[in-house]
Amino acid sequence: MTHIGVFDSGVGGLSVLREIHRHLPHIPTIYYADQVHLPYGQRQPDDIRQLVENAADFLIAHGAQVIVLACHTASAASLHELRARVAHIPIVGMEPAVKPAAERTQSGVIGVLTTSATAKSGLYRRVVERFAQHVRVITEPAPALVTLVESGMQNTPEGEAIMKGYLQPMNDAGADQIVLACTHFPFLADNLKRLTQAELIDPSAAVARQVARVLPGDFAPTSAPHLYYTSGDPDAFQQSVKALIGEAVRVNV
Ligand code: DGL
Repeated sequence: MTHIGVFDSGVGGLSVLREIHRHLPHIPTIYYADQVHLPYGQRQPDDIRQLVENAADFLIAHGAQVIVLACHTASAASLHELRARVAHIPIVGMEPAVKPAAERTQSGVIGVLTTSATAKSGLYRRVVERFAQHVRVITEPAPALVTLVESGMQNTPEGEAIMKGYLQPMNDAGADQIVLACTHFPFLADNLKRLTQAELIDPSAAVARQVARVLPGDFAPTSAPHLYYTSGDPDAFQQSVKALIGEAVRVNV
């Protein structure tokens, strides 16, 4: 059985998976969360590349014919290497949505919420150099937001205080666009919207459209179930999938 393979370090990639399900409703997917090794955003690039290689091997062994790196951190560290290594499979990655933010800003200031590894990456530097020369970019690595989403603590006063802290420099500088450059963060959109006037930019719908464009021609729609795997705790992951994208699923180990 062929599937679209979708990978993230944790539950963040579910924000991309949700869009893939909306856009391609009858195409089976297989989602792999490497929660044992989370957070990727605090790891070194070589380490991330090795983990992504392992995850890609896992997805291919389970029938993936397209791979979506639904993780900015994984994409920044290893998209090019992975494409070279598994040249027979289309690989779709995430790129911080700095371009639309720089095009839309009226105030000339944009914010980027991301992970430490993505903020330090060559991919991020190139995207900013290429698309955001004319605007001020406030980059905030926000690892505690990943933890908030993984732990389901976003609706607590502590969670709100953490979000406020990351948004403060952007709000103070008058940013009117905030790029969600980590796939965990769209799950905080409702909370963030209460704490900033800025528009939030989530690239997941665009990524789902890109997945549709690269699907091999023999990818027939079926009613095969979507599959879910985690390297972490399957029960906790099952609850997260239900809470975050409303799907009651069985998690395989
Ligand atoms: N979801 C990942 C991303 O988009 C980051 C989470 C992590 O640090 O593992 O960058």
